[in-house]
Amino acid sequence: MQIVILKDAAAVAHYGSELFAAQLKKQPASVLGLATGSTPVALYQNLIKLNQQGDISFAQAQSFNLDEYLGLPGEHPQSYRYFMNQQLFAHIDIDINNTHVPPGNADDPIAACEQYERQIAEAGGIDLQLLGIGRNGHIGFNEPSSGLTSRTRVKTLTKETIADNARFFGEGEYQPHLSITMGIGTILDAKKVVLLATGESKAAAIAATVEGPLSAACPASALQMHQNAVLVIDEAAASKL
Ligand code: GLP
Repeated sequence: MQIVILKDAAAVAHYGSELFAAQLKKQPASVLGLATGSTPVALYQNLIKLNQQGDISFAQAQSFNLDEYLGLPGEHPQSYRYFMNQQLFAHIDIDINNTHVPPGNADDPIAACEQYERQIAEAGGIDLQLLGIGRNGHIGFNEPSSGLTSRTRVKTLTKETIADNARFFGEGEYQPHLSITMGIGTILDAKKVVLLATGESKAAAIAATVEGPLSAACPASALQMHQNAVLVIDEAAASKL
């Protein structure tokens, strides 16, 4: 695992967007693994700028998002499909039909998980996977205790993650407790993985990821097994290393 420690969140976003830009320049038909949460937003803004300046193109690219809330249709403002459309897809030259987010409103979620895995395989696998990290070390919605070889499946969210993400939901608004998420095995299959983390609140999770034992107690520690994983973190997130 390569660890890159930079001054602040802006430098982390810049470094991350340069990795994506380099990937698209080298291989315009890349399969990109994308993430939600607040951490990737600045990276997406950089990519939008580079795209609008004509430096990079997503016209031949495909994307697969890590996860989605189970029970929310893509039109729901709290769904991750909606987030991706707003934060990235609406502003770049990607063909929306080439963007994939697990279907939160699937009639048969278990079949939808199997289909998502098939779609990734048919696309040729993920070339570059973006990750954030939860305070408890989760990646995607692979909460602690997730199998280290798990595939896309329905996963229950922990109380901590529900509380952390409550800030995105209005008071009294329904907040799902279930998700569809790529598994840790699915993530490890990506050819390259880049995990971004910023701020003091992520320092303990980063320490467990880098220095802790390889353990389902910290799902991100599974990246210790990946041949081509890079952690791009700011000084605050690195403060417990
Ligand atoms: C959610 C997402 C994760 C993300 C995490 C951290 O739980 N499922 O993919 O990494 O939030 O989000 P943030 O970047 O807002 O701290």
